[in-house]
Amino acid sequence: MRVLAVSGSLRRDSHNTKLLRAAEELAPEGFEFELYEELESVPPYNEDRDGDEAPLGAAHLRARIADADALLIATPEYNSSVPGQLKNAVDWASRPVRAGALWGKPVVVIGASSGMYGAVWAQAELRKILATAGARVVDAEVAVSRAAERFDADGRLVDEEIRDELRAALDSLVAEVEPQLVAA
Ligand SMILES: Cc1cc2nc3c(=O)[nH]c(=O)nc-3n(C[C@H](O)[C@H](O)[C@H](O)COP(=O)(O)O)c2cc1C
Repeated sequence: MRVLAVSGSLRRDSHNTKLLRAAEELAPEGFEFELYEELESVPPYNEDRDGDEAPLGAAHLRARIADADALLIATPEYNSSVPGQLKNAVDWASRPVRAGALWGKPVVVIGASSGMYGAVWAQAELRKILATAGARVVDAEVAVSRAAERFDADGRLVDEEIRDELRAALDSLVAEVEPQLVAA
């Protein structure tokens, strides 16, 4: 099962990217993890430039999503919502309507923030946006609050409760995807 992991943060030491690396470490047998690292090269959505000749960064994003069986997205919270670069990527992947790369794609949303609430508002908004784009949003949540305290100096997730939540979220993703893979 090929899982494309997308961090909504462009920051080098991003807690959200570390959370995805923890997910890779905890993933059940059979997971093939790929980290999408080109979010910054996706241009701002422009309907005039959309179509068969979409800009390279957008076309590449769409192809990577299309190739994956499922997505795992970790979002930070910026001003109580989804960071612009992540929303922009969802917009590209939501088109063409009903035929975009996100259409029918199983997705788990998780998130980390430096504050008290673990990016729960951003996660809720991202789920709403993804559902509008036709993705199959899996009912799972991992909300990492006070993220700076949850990773050690090597970037390893050291909070056992969150590690368990992450395992459960990945199990939910497998449960969503596997019947589909068996049928294929
Ligand atoms: C522009 C901006 C807005 C932010 N707004 C919020 C917010 O509304 N709520 C929150 O919990 N944290 C907020 N933060 C703090 C982020 O949660 C924190 O920087 C987090 O570590 C970002 O994720 P990252 O480590 O993956 O880059 C904001 C940070 C930035 C840069």
